[in-house]
Amino acid sequence: MNQIFDLLIRNAFIVDGSGAPRFRADVAVQGERIARVGDLQTAQARLEIDAAGLVLAPGFIDAHTHDDRLMLSGGDMAPKVSQGITTVIGGNCGVSLAPMPRPIPDPVTPPLNLLDDTGDWFRFTSFAAYLDALRAQPAATNCAMLVGHTTLRVATMDDLTQPASVTETEAMRQLVEEAMAAGAIGVSTGLFYEPSIAAPTEEVIGICEPLARHGGVYCTHMRNEGDDIIKSLTETFRIGREANVPVVISHHKVVGVKNYGRSGETLQFIADHMQKQPICLDCYPYPASSTILSAHRAANATRVTVTWSKPMPQYAGRDLSDIVEELGGSVEDVIDRLTPAGAIYYMMDDADVQRILKFDETMIGSDGLPHDEAPHPRLWGSFPRVLGHYGRGLGLFSLETAIHKMTGLTAKNFGLTDRGLVREGSYADLTLLDPETVGAGATYESPKTPAVGIHTVIVNGAVVWSGGKPSGARPGRVLRRETA
Ligand code: ZN
Ligand code: CU
Repeated sequence: MNQIFDLLIRNAFIVDGSGAPRFRADVAVQGERIARVGDLQTAQARLEIDAAGLVLAPGFIDAHTHDDRLMLSGGDMAPKVSQGITTVIGGNCGVSLAPMPRPIPDPVTPPLNLLDDTGDWFRFTSFAAYLDALRAQPAATNCAMLVGHTTLRVATMDDLTQPASVTETEAMRQLVEEAMAAGAIGVSTGLFYEPSIAAPTEEVIGICEPLARHGGVYCTHMRNEGDDIIKSLTETFRIGREANVPVVISHHKVVGVKNYGRSGETLQFIADHMQKQPICLDCYPYPASSTILSAHRAANATRVTVTWSKPMPQYAGRDLSDIVEELGGSVEDVIDRLTPAGAIYYMMDDADVQRILKFDETMIGSDGLPHDEAPHPRLWGSFPRVLGHYGRGLGLFSLETAIHKMTGLTAKNFGLTDRGLVREGSYADLTLLDPETVGAGATYESPKTPAVGIHTVIVNGAVVWSGGKPSGARPGRVLRRETA
């Protein structure tokens, strides 16, 4: 008797995520896995999609997100699945929603307010409770979560302007131990930001102690991405060596006009050290960054656009220079009046962005901020922009290479077993796209616009995006890191 599959995608060009050249095949899905890849002309399925002229890729893995809360408060994950993303790595830049075993300060300590400025969502007293909530109320995408150092500091320390005491470091280390046991994939830091800027290297090494035992990773928004970037890379590699774990350099970039062009130097430095220890890196495909608004960051940018403001929400989406003109007073005064707030900073050279994207080991991450009123377009546009603008448009790499940087490479680096490849037996996380039209819809002016050319997106065998909208299905799983 002929088997009836759950889903059959016919006549697609398969870009399988390994970087290998595309090939023509049909793909059959049974339950949540890929059952067959090949010539399946005589096969039948409950749902069939004719994919002639389209490319079928593994679902994209967003290597760097701040989706900790979005998965609970906006579980259809429209900004993500609309781009073809099927798995997100959350809890980055030292900022995780959990654990928060004591009441969060009011107002919420920046940059934790990037996730929620009311404090209501910092309700999970343990990492296990947070992961349980994600399992009880799944999102459309899978996730793999980091525990954030800044969250741990806020959860345990009395004076955040100081290095952690021996007791405080031990308390944080204990929370890392619990988070790893519950299913976290590692620790993230945001040493660039207050209050974690006060943490010496030894504090980070101290709290990362459980990682090696649990097979975790260390992801970092480094202390400095400008003049002192080599020093920060050196610090990052030292933490990786002393904690005996792989490191992930988050959103690698070089900022500030006088550092334009230095990606040649940083990538060489990274490549040299990759010979000696495990190092990964990700990048978002834009020459502007985005985070909380502050005067010293604004001073380093050629242009600043406000993305949200708690006291003056009406200024979201406006340039800081316009707001200064309208309100009068100094830039510092205006920033004071707008904060707590977020901003987009134009502070990179596109030639550096291109060189970093092109580097063989670079994964794609969005670093999108889903709760901003007028977000950076990377939230909705990163993956299609790599495929469209940087791939097809500028010819930086082939479609196969671009997709590898979003799938197979990322799954390998984060230890996501049976993900990131179109293979028989793998989970059916799949993205069907039009290689001729795929591109970002989101722009700085109109940032909440879905991608173009993303046809159908499937997570664990269930369609989550088709016909330009979310399907309503919530098949996402909490993934653990598995190391060989
Ligand atoms: Zn960051
Ligand atoms: Cu980030």
